[in-house]
Amino acid sequence: MVVADLFSLAQKVALVTGANSGIGKSIAQAYAAAGACVVLVARRAAELEQARTEIEDAGGRAAALPCDLAERDALFAGAARAPEFFGTPDVVVNAAGVNIRRPMLEITETDWDATMRVNLDAPFFLPQRLAPGSFPTPLTALVMNDPVRWKQMAERTLIGRNGRLEELAGAAICLASRASDFVMGQTVFVDGGMSAAG
Ligand SMILES: NC(=O)c1ccc[n+]([C@@H]2O[C@H](COP(=O)([O-])OP(=O)(O)OC[C@H]3O[C@@H](n4cnc5c(N)ncnc54)[C@H](OP(=O)(O)O)[C@@H]3O)[C@@H](O)[C@H]2O)c1
Repeated sequence: MVVADLFSLAQKVALVTGANSGIGKSIAQAYAAAGACVVLVARRAAELEQARTEIEDAGGRAAALPCDLAERDALFAGAARAPEFFGTPDVVVNAAGVNIRRPMLEITETDWDATMRVNLDAPFFLPQRLAPGSFPTPLTALVMNDPVRWKQMAERTLIGRNGRLEELAGAAICLASRASDFVMGQTVFVDGGMSAAG
């Protein structure tokens, strides 16, 4: 057995939502580097195209599929189009997410509906198995730019610091590869021990 082959994603097709930013972009890059063909999903087409170009410039294969996952029709249309690029996806990563950081009383019904659709409805149709801790992305910028709050987040981990995006790659590749073929229905916490610390 060649151990490296266990973790190869050659011949695999991965669909990654939220692939033009933060965690999704980082995982999409890691999957492409491991040999997968990656279908990149998010709304902002220019950023999606940039992510696709970066992967191809690095020698990988990727396609951009702009889609608003908060719109049910668009979600189903996107899912139907996904196999057109490299065939039916073997792996789906639900990294698209909304986290509106406003006081509860300022959250509108529209905000709530969009959040539920992206964070709950879209992953409902697809499996989700990776649970990240705190990583620096546009979504966490408000907390990250506040040194006190960012330090407080770090202190909740066992490792004593927040994550680096590249630290998601190992677990994400393992879950998508042959190495974890018999691992089903698990949640892998990549959080520096935050969940274990309670
Ligand atoms: N960063 C962390 O420390 C951390 C920790 C735990 C969990 N998470 C979760 O991980 C997920 C990704 O977070 P992140 O930090 O990577 O945030 P991010 O950099 O802001 O990325 C969010 C992604 O979601 C996409 N998206 C948002 N609304 C969408 C919609 N309606 N349709 C399609 N795509 C949509 C965005 O692209 P468009 O705007 O172009 O659509 C973007 O690619 C979120 O669910 C977040 O709660 C993050």
